[in-house]
Amino acid sequence: MQEKTFLQKAMKIVPISLGLVAIFWFGSAALGLSSAVQQRLCGIVLVAMIYALLLAIPKTEFKEKTFLQNLKIKIPVITILGIVIWFLAGSFGFPVWWQIQFVAFALVGLTFFILLDLRTMKPEKGQVHSVRRLLATYALASIIFITVTAQLPQFDPEFELEKLNKPPMKLTGLAGPEVIAAGREIFEANKCFNCHKVFWEGNSDRGPNLGSKQIGLYSDDYIKSQILDPRKDQAPGFEDKKSKKAMPTYYGDDISDDEMVALVAYLKTMRDPTNIPVEGKFPNQWTWWDDPKIIEEGKVVFEGKEAATEGLNCAVCHGAAGIPMMTGALDFRNENQPDTDKMPDHLPGVMLKDWPDELWYKRVTRGVVGTPMAPWGMIFPHLYLWKAEAYARTFHDPLDKRTAKRPVPPVPTKEEIEAWKTNELFLDPLL
Ligand code: HEC
Ligand code: HEC
Repeated sequence: MQEKTFLQKAMKIVPISLGLVAIFWFGSAALGLSSAVQQRLCGIVLVAMIYALLLAIPKTEFKEKTFLQNLKIKIPVITILGIVIWFLAGSFGFPVWWQIQFVAFALVGLTFFILLDLRTMKPEKGQVHSVRRLLATYALASIIFITVTAQLPQFDPEFELEKLNKPPMKLTGLAGPEVIAAGREIFEANKCFNCHKVFWEGNSDRGPNLGSKQIGLYSDDYIKSQILDPRKDQAPGFEDKKSKKAMPTYYGDDISDDEMVALVAYLKTMRDPTNIPVEGKFPNQWTWWDDPKIIEEGKVVFEGKEAATEGLNCAVCHGAAGIPMMTGALDFRNENQPDTDKMPDHLPGVMLKDWPDELWYKRVTRGVVGTPMAPWGMIFPHLYLWKAEAYARTFHDPLDKRTAKRPVPPVPTKEEIEAWKTNELFLDPLL
């Protein structure tokens, strides 16, 4: 039987693969799998197809190809493969460094193939000769390894020394954004990302996500004390033995006073004006709406008994039992109340029970212009306002009658976070 040509083989491989892609695509859609899963399944089939095509390339006719001829086929193939691997790894959610590593493996494969294509060497003439060749190969591999790794920043001794010899940070003369940027560098340099995510950034859930937890709502002193002595006040959901002791206690020695100011300035930016804070250890998380401890603290704020918000008393107008004391003040007992129509950005048709977190936050921090509902967020720390809101909700949605917790919001994306800055969702000054 005659060997099939590459074209004949390809005519089989390609339609079969595309057929498989179609089956997986519609099959996974029919099974209700997410489009991300769909794309991954199809991506895997496509990688398999490329491999099958590579195998189908007819064995070289006896004529040896030149080195360049070999490269002409392999480089484009590996390039395409590298691109497919890059996007496939990306769709699986691997961090960028892993993506780079996977593609690097494909390039190592290329080198390997190139080596295989080289002309065979003449057989060794004897024991000594083969030992010499062995040593030469070893030496060559070592040289390549050392030269390549020396180029990478983390292996560059100069780079490490420079970091060690860097003069300690001095804050004098720096303005806001520079301090925050310096604080972020300190966060990175002290490897806080090893345990903490900041919204979408980072890939470890050992400690709380300082973004969705909104550590920026807390006071500078609290944040500082939690870095210096993390065991003083355990983060909710991290009470287990391992988590309790996980956060190092040596940062007081490693971080200078000025660096601490910058680090705290950076952490203070970790807020989300569109969602109430999230507590707990991934994936067992909950929002403040369903947190009995927060709701209890919110009651104290609402009734004007919180020392940190002296002068704020929601109950004076909205009533301690939810019965409005002032005409026109929102009645929190009635779940079917629309948003005020006195604000240009009002949200018609959405009832109190369905108000997005963002609306609660906006109304209570900015108030309702022209009414006694003042912009409390200009005067009082937002940490306490969120708590008062969590309590206010219980008037129409009592904690003990709830059958399900409110869903934990998805972690905001980089683009959404950028948008908060331009949408004026944050108040200035931030309390
Ligand atoms: C080895 C893991 C690890 C590293 C590294 C780490 N943390 Fe933590 N961190 C944790 C864990 C676990 C918790 C939760 C338990 C607790 O409250 O102590 C926590 C808690 C915190 C809290 C308190 C959160 C709250 O709810 O009050 C802050 C703030 C914090 N970390 C900041 C940092 C900063 C800043 C760095 C870097 C300088 C850092 N962490 C490095 C594991 C770590
Ligand atoms: C001085 C009286 C007063 C105080 C104190 C007060 N409110 Fe109000 N609040 C009002 C009035 C009046 C309205 C109705 C505004 C309007 O006409 O739409 C209102 C409306 C609201 C609304 C609804 C806004 C909308 O879109 O309809 C919310 C939510 C609210 N208050 C929460 C609070 C919370 C939480 C506190 C305490 C942190 C508080 N209020 C303190 C008087 C007050």
